[in-house]
Amino acid sequence: DKLHNLLRDLPKVEAHCHLEGSLEPDLLFELAARNNINLPKDDEAFASVESLLARYGRFTSLDDFLHYYFIGMTTLVARDDFEALAYAYFKKAHSQNVVHAEVFFDPQAHTTRGVKFETILDGFEKAQERAKQDFGLTSELIVCLLRHFSPADCHQAYLEALPDLQNGRICGLGLSSTEKGNPPHLFKQSYEDAKKRGLRLTAHAGEEADVSYMRSAVDDLGCRRIDHGIRLKEDPELLKRFAREKILVTICPLSNLELKSIKDISELPIREYLDAKVPFSINSDDPAYFGGYIQENYCAVQQAFHLSVEEWADILINAVALSWCSDERKDEIL
Ligand code: ADE
Ligand code: ZN
Repeated sequence: DKLHNLLRDLPKVEAHCHLEGSLEPDLLFELAARNNINLPKDDEAFASVESLLARYGRFTSLDDFLHYYFIGMTTLVARDDFEALAYAYFKKAHSQNVVHAEVFFDPQAHTTRGVKFETILDGFEKAQERAKQDFGLTSELIVCLLRHFSPADCHQAYLEALPDLQNGRICGLGLSSTEKGNPPHLFKQSYEDAKKRGLRLTAHAGEEADVSYMRSAVDDLGCRRIDHGIRLKEDPELLKRFAREKILVTICPLSNLELKSIKDISELPIREYLDAKVPFSINSDDPAYFGGYIQENYCAVQQAFHLSVEEWADILINAVALSWCSDERKDEIL
């Protein structure tokens, strides 16, 4: 298919990738050995790269995935580990013609193990600088609050990140982890403070939970971007509002498939969002866990929906226009 080649060659922006979700099994085992981390002995999945990848291929839900995701990242300890992780992602993204990436990270998953916030940020920042130098790839960090922790714990994590949100080392605030039972409004204290300071806001919503979580993220938290957000068909009025207010939805097709939010890529609301002019982008989420980076996600969508060149142009232009990079950089990319 000619379009697959075109999609490969087009300059792309990624707006939804968790750096910890780009931890490939070979690096995971390498870091575990280097840092003397004991991986679970009672889980045969950790016997080898092959058995781990095979287990990744059988996720049953978001929580089933998160179990492995949080174990995997216990191997990240030193500044160099975080740098190696992020640089490997940037290198892979560059090979697929990603020119700008906005990437999530989960400080609470590291600081609760005794890793210093500065260690994480210094490592990621070093990788960002090298990716800029080596590939011309620009990037921004988005700090995620982990919603399976209490809102009070999350607010402490927010306050720890706040100086770097204000000085620009971190570009925006996000909310991730177990969605059902942890609705957006619970995290209002942190988001209200961030909004007051004019910070950029996004949240995972409408992945496993229903569309009311998307509404809450917009109304209660003030988000101008929603991660996953595949549930707007359930609320036609909210769908129109996303189109009108140009709220970007960052869709992650292979993630939704692997975590059983959908049974087939064709169930994604791609056609409905295009027709209603809801702006969305196509992203990888946790590429090391879901069998593909951004390119494979683009191709999965093309295979299921047979979009036209014009439709892809709209998707790519929205992804750039609604990204959080500078206007100058947007002009360069477009
Ligand atoms: N953290 C990493 N990937 C995630 C996802 N798909 N949903 C919620 N939290 C996540
Ligand atoms: Zn995500």
